[in-house]
Amino acid sequence: MEKKITLDEKDMPRQWYNIQADLPEPLPPVINPGTGKPIGPDDLSPIFPMPLIGQEVSQERWVEIPDPIREVYKLWRPTPLIRATRWEQALDTPAKIYYKWEGVSPAGSHKPNTAVAQAFYNKETGQKRLTTETGAGQWGSSLAFACGLFGLECKVYMVRISYEQKPYRKSMMQAWGAHVTPSPSTETKVGRDILERDPESTGSLGIAISEAVEAAVSADDTKYALGSVLNHVLMHQTVIGLETQKQLEIAGDEPDVLIGCVGGGSSFGGFVFPFMRDNIKDGKKTRIVAVEPTACPTLTKGKYVYDFGDAGAMTPLMKMYTLGHNFVPAPIHAGGLRYHGMSPLLCHLYDLKQFEAVAVPQNPVFAAAVSFAKSEGIIAAPEPSHAIKVAMDEALECKQSGESKVIVFNLCGHGHFDMAAYDQYFAGNLPDYEYPEEKIDESLKDLPQIEG
Ligand SMILES: Cc1ncc(COP(=O)(O)O)c(C=O)c1O
Repeated sequence: MEKKITLDEKDMPRQWYNIQADLPEPLPPVINPGTGKPIGPDDLSPIFPMPLIGQEVSQERWVEIPDPIREVYKLWRPTPLIRATRWEQALDTPAKIYYKWEGVSPAGSHKPNTAVAQAFYNKETGQKRLTTETGAGQWGSSLAFACGLFGLECKVYMVRISYEQKPYRKSMMQAWGAHVTPSPSTETKVGRDILERDPESTGSLGIAISEAVEAAVSADDTKYALGSVLNHVLMHQTVIGLETQKQLEIAGDEPDVLIGCVGGGSSFGGFVFPFMRDNIKDGKKTRIVAVEPTACPTLTKGKYVYDFGDAGAMTPLMKMYTLGHNFVPAPIHAGGLRYHGMSPLLCHLYDLKQFEAVAVPQNPVFAAAVSFAKSEGIIAAPEPSHAIKVAMDEALECKQSGESKVIVFNLCGHGHFDMAAYDQYFAGNLPDYEYPEEKIDESLKDLPQIEG
């Protein structure tokens, strides 16, 4: 039996899969908060280049991946699908566990799959600079890497708590030529207003997004890049799921359950959409499970309503599960999962019951990650460790039931810059947060009033 199922470069996907073509019901429109009407391309053109706006609304099922992007992808793609044989033995489970290993990219996660595409289209349309936010530092470093390759300047607003927890993520971004500022900062009006209200603010993705958008709209030759949430971002990530399908076919296995973590939803969407298509179109019944932290329980405790994507209320309104745009999550170590909202595409599919969601606290997540590392060697980032935890629960259930299920999870990044978090876990200093209902209700009071 092969441990690693690898593909040749020629087998790398030539097209991204766009699930918008196969939705059981149309996606609710994105709304302009000023007019209360659906937005058009012109509303987005100050922040995104036209090819990406086109992809955002495209109904084409397959979208060609331009050759220059595929050439860069070859630096690390196709990524391996690995059978977790040693972990299966350690857990003494009859289940078969596979993980799709996205941590082999230069930045260490799935994020370059879209960073490279976004940098390419911005360069093609004559931009000089991209601004962005980063939580865990994975997205900022991915965009820094991609901008470096295509000769674009890159400015990253990094959530302050992560900036302090992970100084070497900052150094990595600088090594690829990016400028990094802790957020909230005094460089933008949004940042200054927040600091005036709360000088000790540890920041949030919502705040950093507002800062990066403000910086982009304030300059002519600058656009903004988002590392998750939007339709085009999830589409770029479908290279993950498309490769996984081919690899499982080679292994001769059909998945019973697919598991991934969700922050804004890009790694999860990219991993599961090609399989979800088979559920929607061909009546397959593959179980699909999204895992989020109890400290930021967007899908499991949020409300499905129109909300802003950022704390400064600068973005259009998207219908999504949300904890309220002013929600500042507890400083847990899965920085990439601390977002108040979620990809509208995923939220729509969740509302249509195309997948399940569970929330888990961080201590059992780290315990599962350590168990996995001891068998398979890979030290996972705290974000995908949420998927490891639920994969482990499934495998242990199989041990009880004697079932030999095929469990496949997305291991979307390594944790080499997260060792301070592991240290705190080993020292027993990691608090578990359950976000209280009253606080969610309080934060949801500020929701914009939109029909539907
Ligand atoms: C390794 C890793 N996994 C997951 C995420 C969550 O983002 P998304 O839900 O878009 O995949 C992040 C975000 O920073 C991340 O760095």
